[in-house]
Amino acid sequence: MMATLCRSVALAVLLTLVSAVDRGNFKSCQQSSFCRRHRAVKPGESPYALLTNTVTVNDAGLVGDVINENNRIVFTLEIYPLKDSTVRIKINEKNPIKPRFEDPYALVKDIHGESFEVVDQSAQGVTVKFGSHRAVVNAKPLKIDIYNGNDLVVSTNARGLLKFEHYRNKPGNEEQPAEGEGEPNALPADDQEEDKDGLWEESFKGHTDSKPLGPASVGMDISFVNSKHVYGIPEHADSFSLRETTSTDPYRLYNLDVFEYEVDNPMALYGSVPVMLSQTARHTTAVFWHNSAETWIDIKKLPDSNVVSSITGFFSSGETDPPQVSTHWFSESGIIDVFVMLGPKPMDVFRQYAGLTGSQNLPPLFSLGYHQCRWNYNDEEDVRQVHENFDKHDLPLDVMWLDIEHTDGKRYFTWDHYKFPNPLEMTANLTARGRKLVTIIDVHFKRDNNYFFYKEVHDRDLFVHTKDGNEFDGWCWPGSSSYIDMTNPEAREHYSDTYRLDRYKGSTLDTFTWNDMNEPSVFSGPEITMPKDNLHPGIGVEHREVHNAYGMLFHESTYEGHLKRSDRRLRPFLLTRAFYAGTQRSAAVWTGDNTAEWSHLRISQPMLLSLSVTGITHVGADVGGFFGNPDANLLARWYQAAAFQPFYRAHAHLDTKRREPWLFDTETLRIIRKSLRQRYQHLPLWYSLFYENELTGAPPMRPLWASFPEDEATFGIESEHMIGSALLVNPITEPGAVTANVYFPAGVWYDIEDLSMHHGPSHKVVSAPRDKIPVFQRGGSIIPRKDRVRRASTLMREDPYTLVIALDSDGKAQGTLYIDDEHTFDYRQGKFLYLAFSYEGGVLTSKKIDPNGSYDTASWLERVIVIGLHKQPTKVSVNSATVGTRDLESTFESGSATQGSQLTIRKPGVSMREEFTITIH
Ligand SMILES: *[C@@H]1O[C@H](CO)[C@@H](O)[C@H](O)[C@H]1NC(C)=O
Ligand SMILES: *[C@@H]1O[C@H](CO)[C@@H](O)[C@H](O)[C@H]1NC(C)=O
Repeated sequence: MMATLCRSVALAVLLTLVSAVDRGNFKSCQQSSFCRRHRAVKPGESPYALLTNTVTVNDAGLVGDVINENNRIVFTLEIYPLKDSTVRIKINEKNPIKPRFEDPYALVKDIHGESFEVVDQSAQGVTVKFGSHRAVVNAKPLKIDIYNGNDLVVSTNARGLLKFEHYRNKPGNEEQPAEGEGEPNALPADDQEEDKDGLWEESFKGHTDSKPLGPASVGMDISFVNSKHVYGIPEHADSFSLRETTSTDPYRLYNLDVFEYEVDNPMALYGSVPVMLSQTARHTTAVFWHNSAETWIDIKKLPDSNVVSSITGFFSSGETDPPQVSTHWFSESGIIDVFVMLGPKPMDVFRQYAGLTGSQNLPPLFSLGYHQCRWNYNDEEDVRQVHENFDKHDLPLDVMWLDIEHTDGKRYFTWDHYKFPNPLEMTANLTARGRKLVTIIDVHFKRDNNYFFYKEVHDRDLFVHTKDGNEFDGWCWPGSSSYIDMTNPEAREHYSDTYRLDRYKGSTLDTFTWNDMNEPSVFSGPEITMPKDNLHPGIGVEHREVHNAYGMLFHESTYEGHLKRSDRRLRPFLLTRAFYAGTQRSAAVWTGDNTAEWSHLRISQPMLLSLSVTGITHVGADVGGFFGNPDANLLARWYQAAAFQPFYRAHAHLDTKRREPWLFDTETLRIIRKSLRQRYQHLPLWYSLFYENELTGAPPMRPLWASFPEDEATFGIESEHMIGSALLVNPITEPGAVTANVYFPAGVWYDIEDLSMHHGPSHKVVSAPRDKIPVFQRGGSIIPRKDRVRRASTLMREDPYTLVIALDSDGKAQGTLYIDDEHTFDYRQGKFLYLAFSYEGGVLTSKKIDPNGSYDTASWLERVIVIGLHKQPTKVSVNSATVGTRDLESTFESGSATQGSQLTIRKPGVSMREEFTITIH
């Protein structure tokens, strides 16, 4: 939901606002003192040097002192080789006057070291070898080059932009004893010429940040060598392959509630994942800048070696420099803690990053179905009519959503007694149709002693404090509100306990959760968020340190709440707006308050890809656009696009016209129905991909280069994506377009509707009339489907499967299918089937991939479709333990030079539990 001063004001504001973000509410780099200071660092003059005689080696890695030669402050450099081709580089103050904050929230607990050896150590530097990789530390100026085999892939501080602001006492304040080396009380030499504005206090639009610890920012440049394309660092409404920022602000990562955000710019949005990937034909490489404070990233592409030499002085030896993407990262506080993941292929990087921050939790299947939301469904009768209309119009639907108005005066965990007097009965009416309910629980709590949750948390002093130690009072939907201190384990415990069914009255095990406004949004705060000098008593730090992680702490506690209420038996489902590195462990994410405009439909593609490649994979954009009224054409195109994106939810602002599908003309309704049915048919594919996502980190929605990493033509493509490695999707995002220019990577591709055939690599114009989204199955893939679409996915659990086999030029194909009970954690105790299908030499076989899994499904194989056979078979037979050998009925439609043939095999009748073969003679 949008942020502005309050509801009634919001409505007035909406009437007068032009449809654009009020940029003045948010800081530009020029208005942020640490951003200015880091951007002002001159390349090629780095004062940082490794004192090579201090370097020691321990079991985990290498440790040494680094000195800033301008002010003699000493830092500790640590380099840790990690399992799976990853290396961690940390730089921290050696003797800070106060410990510096290190984010404890992003990483999983078990990160394992890799064995290594120091192969070279001299006054010039030191080289650490691990696996086939090397980290080469140049002592002066400090530069760390990471090699994958013989290829230099990442170089840190190559341009000399490292800047680490040590903690110091405020000039003029009482001197405190200085510890260790350096002269923390003196004004350091490197600060003397710099912009002093905002070092100790900073104001923005009438808000003053008191900055009691003074300047504390950290920054460094990281070059991706031989690269032209970098991706990631969500969330920005911008291109997938990130743009240079030489003539704009840097990309900003600072979780903010941005009212009516604009597309195609680097402004911060609701969430932050400080992870960037670089893609070249030889290497996929990624960097995780592990810091939960406000962060900015500059990007400079240096393709020409002459330009490079003059700008970067990249190689001191005078050799010509390779092309590279030079990135410059700086955070307001914390330490430098960088993980470099060396791939070398996209799937390796996805796995390596999952090894650091975890993978997406396997969602319950219903959450991959369709979700219907609106601010607001007004009352129980409204809810009833809407979901009954879905049945009446033959539209599948899994979840109804209730926004803030369902509560008693925006008091979360309560119900409006007039509009929602019987939530249990309302929910039972939904579950009787196989459906679920989601209610919203926001992060701000109404300051009202008669509100049980506020009173309890207040009495235990578990809210965030102001800098003076009082309970923070910020303005949000309920008016005067307090914000729970999620850094405090007691607060997390208390909040998560509130999901117990006896505490959250009117909820059931079929009530799921939507966490909104958790950036946190504070209408009365600086940049519509929490003052940075607020205090988190839980871990005794300023809000500044944890800002980007705060929303994740909140939704992780919601996840814990769902676990508790079911004795850890049922899989939670929750949606969050704010996110951070690690959010994938517990939540789905949507792209916040978009607008009913074609540009927003277009930008949803790169936004979802950016999230997907940085680990957050259960992602979607509000279908139709949150603000404004989509016309029938835009709405239909949006339903088509989102049917092939991971999270599928329609949502709309309070002031928009109602837009349930049956309110449009019959043709539009037909197109929407077709999209929903395509989604439900493909649920087995999505579900299998999400299981594999949990196992391997591979995102279900992928850029083309994830499957074709050597094809440079794919690196700049964001209008198309892959679902797994089987489907290529090109949503139509232009008004009136009835064709699309599609790039087909190498191989043969079949249109999933009419089997028209395309050979890649090639660009082709394909037809895309209003009722069609271009989707192609890759030759060589096998897709599992369920073609008996019902009103909710839960009613399809035991339905039979169809396998769609698209042959490659060798007449082969492969695929997988994952089956379990779709909603509990029993799969982690082996109650699942994970199957591999392969087709070769006219024989389809089904085998368990993981022999440990077994699940007693009643589902059987109803149909097999083989696309791309050259001639009609004489006979088709099936063999399995229970059916023996049996001939099968089939029909054959021959193909042509431009259309694939189709063999449809009817009722093989084997259970999905058993291994089988089907032979095409
Ligand atoms: C539940 O469904 C019944 C039958 O349609 C209806 O009469 C009743 O009002 C519904 N209850 C609620 C709370 O929606
Ligand atoms: C099956 O279980 C055994 C024993 O727990 C384990 O060693 C093996 O790796 C498992 N197999 C697979 C494919 O996961």
